[in-house]
Amino acid sequence: MKLSHQQIDGYGRDGFLVVEDFAAARDCDALMARAGELVDAFDPSQVSIFSTTDQEHLTDQYFLDSGDKIRFFFEENAFDGDGDGELRQDKALSINKIGHAMHDLDPVFEKFSRAPDLADVVDQLGISDPRALQSMYIFKQPHIGGEVVYHQDSTFLYTEPMSVMGLWFALEDATQDNGCLWVLPGGHMDGIKSRFVRTGGGGVETIVHDASGWPGDGFVPVEVPKGTLVVLHGSLPHGSKPNRSALSRHAYTLHVIDGACDYPADNWLQRGADMPARGLR
Ligand code: FE2
Repeated sequence: MKLSHQQIDGYGRDGFLVVEDFAAARDCDALMARAGELVDAFDPSQVSIFSTTDQEHLTDQYFLDSGDKIRFFFEENAFDGDGDGELRQDKALSINKIGHAMHDLDPVFEKFSRAPDLADVVDQLGISDPRALQSMYIFKQPHIGGEVVYHQDSTFLYTEPMSVMGLWFALEDATQDNGCLWVLPGGHMDGIKSRFVRTGGGGVETIVHDASGWPGDGFVPVEVPKGTLVVLHGSLPHGSKPNRSALSRHAYTLHVIDGACDYPADNWLQRGADMPARGLR
């Protein structure tokens, strides 16, 4: 796949690139079906709630150990309020996301993640030795799909120099109604505001470099049809709003880093020595 000069220049200027019709509908359907099978086979007695608004939960060991595994994280509002751990609705409608190594451990996700067209896009956008570090399947469930607060991916997947690139695939149409991405065009020029790191004590913390908030305006919605690839520069501020609609908004994300850069030992995501991040080809 060959990108145009306009696309490459636009990515450098805006910090994101929208490539419609990147993935065939049948390939999106195959990923959705496979995610459904993985959830069916998951035993929800091992519970972890993922929320970017409450970092306490992120200290959960289940999350911290998930960098080289396939694990399941519930929506914050998935459970009854009385604390007995009962799901409000079917398990398949309660999962927030699956992470973080299905691109290595599941053959369906591995094939999608290592499509030659994808490696071509990453090459042309300037990563010389791309390594597939992290994958997530995001459900953005009807009615309860949670907000993802504005953030920069390099906060979570930091390298020196910074290199992470987010590859976000719309497996269903993403609209403002069902919680599409919002981005701050050009916001990748200003560096990152914080780093999310492991502490010596086995927890995690956020080290803030710049405590100023995000601008009140400037963020724009990225409404895209099924099959679209959105490439996100690691320093681009982005997020998504809650999904209060009756439609889901499934997406798959793959994060790649440049193998030529240093990967700090205090990044939250650590993979075992037997599971190094592999290339895209
Ligand atoms: Fe992100």
